[in-house]
Amino acid sequence: MKRILIIDPDASYRGKVRVALESLACDVVALESVGEASRALIEESPALVISGYDQPREEELDLLRLARKGSHPVPVLVLAREGSTRGAIDFMDAGAYDYLRRPDVTELRAVVEDILRLSGEDSSSVDLPDEREGEAAKIIGSSAEMIEIYKLIGRIAKSDAAVLVQGESGTGKELVARTIHENSRRANRSFLAVNCAAIPETLLESELFGHERGAFTGASYSRKGKFELSHGGTIFLDEVGDMSLPTQAKILRVLQEQTFERVGGEQTLTSDARIIAATNKSLVECIESNAFRVDLFYRLKVVSIFLPSLRKRPGDVALLVDHFIRKYHRESKISIRGISRRARLYLEAQPWTGNVRELENAIQTAVVLNRTGTLDVEDFPFLRDHSGSGGGATGPNVLERLREEARRAANVLLADQSGRAGKPVYHNCVDTVEQAVVDAALLHCAGNQVRASRMLGISRNTLRTKMSLDDPIQGEG
Ligand SMILES: Nc1ncnc2c1ncn2[C@@H]1O[C@H](COP(=O)(O)OP(=O)(O)OP(=O)(O)O)[C@@H](O)[C@H]1O
Ligand SMILES: [Mg+2]
Repeated sequence: MKRILIIDPDASYRGKVRVALESLACDVVALESVGEASRALIEESPALVISGYDQPREEELDLLRLARKGSHPVPVLVLAREGSTRGAIDFMDAGAYDYLRRPDVTELRAVVEDILRLSGEDSSSVDLPDEREGEAAKIIGSSAEMIEIYKLIGRIAKSDAAVLVQGESGTGKELVARTIHENSRRANRSFLAVNCAAIPETLLESELFGHERGAFTGASYSRKGKFELSHGGTIFLDEVGDMSLPTQAKILRVLQEQTFERVGGEQTLTSDARIIAATNKSLVECIESNAFRVDLFYRLKVVSIFLPSLRKRPGDVALLVDHFIRKYHRESKISIRGISRRARLYLEAQPWTGNVRELENAIQTAVVLNRTGTLDVEDFPFLRDHSGSGGGATGPNVLERLREEARRAANVLLADQSGRAGKPVYHNCVDTVEQAVVDAALLHCAGNQVRASRMLGISRNTLRTKMSLDDPIQGEG
């Protein structure tokens, strides 16, 4: 169970927060003063700290810094009663995850759920992190190739055999891994994913096997690794081809004997986690260049699933298009009736070198930019420019259109400037565009500032300043 530490001098609000969070199946430790908090922070290893202080006194800032220290910083959410510019700036500057004016209970639950999911701090092995909103992940496709894959999943899900999922980027390897887990006897236990390429080698071992207190600089308390946490469940080793040889040796040992030690630890621990690995590299080539152990390769691919590229199953494009339109219609709350026949044919003819992920991104962008309620070829200008490149979701055409619009608007404002008070034309135009971009991102992320800032490639602080016109928190001196 995830533990949340609340520090708030206001007993009544503290009580409300406790009730709200306990309904999320979290274990709540509530404290009145910041004095006792540093000890609790170390002893309770919370997954999240909620601090209810308005004014950033040194004591509160110190606690925040303590929480953020070490290799596994704990996110700190500040819930201010009044909210002040100073508080927002100082708390954010000291590393707060977010600074909000006391939200109501429903909103608070949503924020906390988001933080726990995004921070990936799995201090528990009971719940399933990374669950897709609302519905279970679903594999779409009715091509003969995909039917073979479903049958294979059905045959092997109930066994504990290791599975190796291969395929180009974006073909759905992680989705398949989740589906195997959800159909296994382990379905009500954890599915934990580790991206072996995204984590620096030194941290990867701690991520996988955990570490003892003092194992390395910054390891101020001991921590369980994903193998320990997914005992009884499934561990997904993504980009397994990028794992170093020493780590490979340790994984091999878990596969053979189900045993391992925490980094810096002496005690031998066991985990019966089922291992599903994925890679878009050719492991055979990695073996030839001595970058991957051949014995591990055979242990991992007791069952081997190869996902075909989307080019090889063009018939699935239409189904995926409908699926993603429905999904983004729901998520973005933008009303889309459907897609024109012309656009459907156009999408079916695309090379989709980025596979399903590229198709998904394309639909997502088109839904957001669409003005008519029906997707048409014009909603996919970025595909025309990037055809064959596997490109992302934006394109020069969209920006060219924006530039043209901005030029036109600036001309009107410049011509109309005679003697009127108001913002100078330059700031007026730039602010308007900034505001529109920020609004679009927030809409896209259902108001979640963390995700929106990530999507825009700016810091949360910057995002908040760009929102300042609408935000009463920032309004004060
Ligand atoms: N057959 C499918 N049906 C529905 N959604 C799919 C399908 N295949 C992939 N997706 C979606 O496409 C996106 C990419 O899939 P996923 O992350 O599983 O790909 P991957 O093979 O792991 O890619 P990478 O190698 O880049 O990590 C996800 O949002 C996933 O839900
Ligand atoms: Mg993946």
